[in-house]
Amino acid sequence: MGLLEKHGVIERNASFLLIGSLLVVSIGGIVEIAPLFYLENTIEKVEGMRPYTPLELAGRDIYIREGCYTCHSQMIRPFRDEVERFGQYSLAAESMYDHPFQWGSKRTGPDLARVGDRYSNAWHVQHLKDPRSVVPESVMPSYGFLAEATLETDLTSNSLRANAMVGVPYSEEMIDNALADLMAQADPELDSSGLLSRYDNVRIEDYDGNSRELTEMDALIAYLQMLGTLVDFSTYEPEANYR
Ligand code: HEC
Repeated sequence: MGLLEKHGVIERNASFLLIGSLLVVSIGGIVEIAPLFYLENTIEKVEGMRPYTPLELAGRDIYIREGCYTCHSQMIRPFRDEVERFGQYSLAAESMYDHPFQWGSKRTGPDLARVGDRYSNAWHVQHLKDPRSVVPESVMPSYGFLAEATLETDLTSNSLRANAMVGVPYSEEMIDNALADLMAQADPELDSSGLLSRYDNVRIEDYDGNSRELTEMDALIAYLQMLGTLVDFSTYEPEANYR
């Protein structure tokens, strides 16, 4: 009896097929899950990772609302071509405060995991308003309306509170001062001592270049400029099995 005919016996007997399938699937499951019990840690210990500031968090909400993730991933895979193009591959620790994570599976545009600090704020404003004015062959839609849209801040502290509920280490002090911290990050004229005492490594700028109004563009660019810049890679030691 050939191999195919033997397989025919399984295919013609429903119970046999079911038991066989369960057996194969559970082997696959064990191979994926068992190693996790032997690893000391699935999230590396890194220096510099902190929860998003209220302004960055608001920008992240806009990123999700506008569906930027349908064209952009935020995960640099540990392959040479990706690392040469986008920089250091992404660590699990870098998305540990993401609810939901923005790894994505579609790249119509480039990966954005390390886009922070790569361009000026003015470049981002120009690019979001009219992508083809800076990259002529771009197929990215224009998001000029974000510069006209006043940033909604009614839910700022609730947004931090919701993230705290799912495990992001926002303190009561951070939640209580969320609105003031949000304002302070987008206006260099305001007192930022509170913001800086609560969050390390924060850029304080008038992101959209329009100081008259706090817009959705301010929040989105604050978020983009932070992406991939938090972890201090000068102190990062990969674990032996990942080197
Ligand atoms: C229809 C797909 C599409 C959508 C949706 C989209 N983009 Fe893009 N994006 C692109 C493409 C293609 C490029 C590359 C050409 C360019 O720079 O415009 C790009 C480039 C970028 C860049 C420059 C990246 C780099 O490293 O040069 C940034 C930043 C960016 N997009 C942000 C956003 C944000 C923020 C949103 C949501 C508000 C968004 N994109 C939505 C397709 C898209």
